[in-house]
Amino acid sequence: MSVWHITGGRRLSGTVEVQGAKNAVLPIMAASVLTPGVTRLENVPELSDVDITMRILRGLGCAVEREGDAVTIDSRELSRSEIPHELMRELRSSVVFLGALLARCGHARLSMPGGCELGPRPIDLHLMALRALGAEIDERAGELICSTPGGLHGAAIALPLASVGATENAMLCACLAEGETLIMNAAREPEIGELEGFLKKLGAEVSGAGSATVRVRGGALAGGFAGHRIMPDRIVSATYLAACAAAGGDIELRGAQPRHFSTVLRSLSECGCDIIAGDTSVRLVSDGNLRAPRPVITGPYPGFPTDAQPLLLAACLKAKGTSVFVENVFQNRFRFTEELQRLGARIHTEGRVAVVTGVDALHGAPAVATDLRGGAALVIAALSAEGETEILDSGHIRRGYARLDEVLRALGADAAYTEAKGA
Ligand code: UD1
Repeated sequence: MSVWHITGGRRLSGTVEVQGAKNAVLPIMAASVLTPGVTRLENVPELSDVDITMRILRGLGCAVEREGDAVTIDSRELSRSEIPHELMRELRSSVVFLGALLARCGHARLSMPGGCELGPRPIDLHLMALRALGAEIDERAGELICSTPGGLHGAAIALPLASVGATENAMLCACLAEGETLIMNAAREPEIGELEGFLKKLGAEVSGAGSATVRVRGGALAGGFAGHRIMPDRIVSATYLAACAAAGGDIELRGAQPRHFSTVLRSLSECGCDIIAGDTSVRLVSDGNLRAPRPVITGPYPGFPTDAQPLLLAACLKAKGTSVFVENVFQNRFRFTEELQRLGARIHTEGRVAVVTGVDALHGAPAVATDLRGGAALVIAALSAEGETEILDSGHIRRGYARLDEVLRALGADAAYTEAKGA
């Protein structure tokens, strides 16, 4: 078990270079197997989710190297289309390999990713989209055995929910399907646009990302070399800003894209923070005395991101008044609030709604990171609490944050992180 020790009460000040986006790099790494070629990705964050994806790629027969923030993937010798259960279990989003492997190999075998700490996360929409493209998928004893006996063909796919992962899976598979594919009610998250940009570099004809309809004209892809720099992480950006809002201070994020998290900036501004947003930077000034924002209602992009909900909620624990959070994307995303209550927070949850009554002070306490963003929420709360908080973390936070402790210390926080051996 890894452990955080955070003594709150220090203002944060300084600048942060925002890391590359986890949710952009993972599908792009999966996309790299579409063609027999070499991909060089830059600005790849050092995250355990990225490490696992590298292991998946090696297991498929790719040569994968990391040098600093660059990762090179050589998929010319890809020889397998199976992902072992232990890797699938560790990384739910590895299901996005399904579309890429089916397209490249004509078959794929992987285990069902199952539920996770945010509640049940079905993959029915992924499977529906891939079946529409011609895949035969046998769901047997927790395994997905997939093939394309009649080849892949373009299709009109109407997603009942704008699922990010299903949109990505369909886009990857459609790149090598014969004819045109339309993905309707596609997710519009910025990471979909990033994936489209990468697929174009592979030679694919994809358009419409960022709108509700993504169009793919499938066909053979030549392979060769593709280079790509990963976009900044909007949720990590929101994390540092929420931490500064709660603890008080003055920080600037560099290499950020504020237009990708304008809903978060609006809420932080309603809380009383001063925000100066440029094209690729954003500065936040807070005296730590916040007021409750208007109700925060999560939804698919361009709505308020569900991944930023725990972060803003943590920033509002001492905000004057009552803050309301409505979670519309995941069923079970308030588990972390029980841990926040150990620090003295007053939170009442019922179903999809959490109501936070601002308290005058939080106090340090032992707590447990329940999931990635719930863990980050605890860190934010601890930074604004009096005394020391110890957070036990079985590796959740490292899934999404590169050197979070070092960055926080550079901003003036009293934060130490001891990683469990072998974690
Ligand atoms: C991605 C992000 C995750 C983020 C989420 C929503 C990655 C690696 N992860 O996850 O950080 O929180 O988008 O912005 O990019 N659903 C179904 N059936 C399906 C697929 C999804 O019912 O086949 C439901 C889910 O249970 C959930 C909702 O659709 O309630 C949205 O999920 P989805 O957009 O697919 O999220 P992910 O792609 O898993």
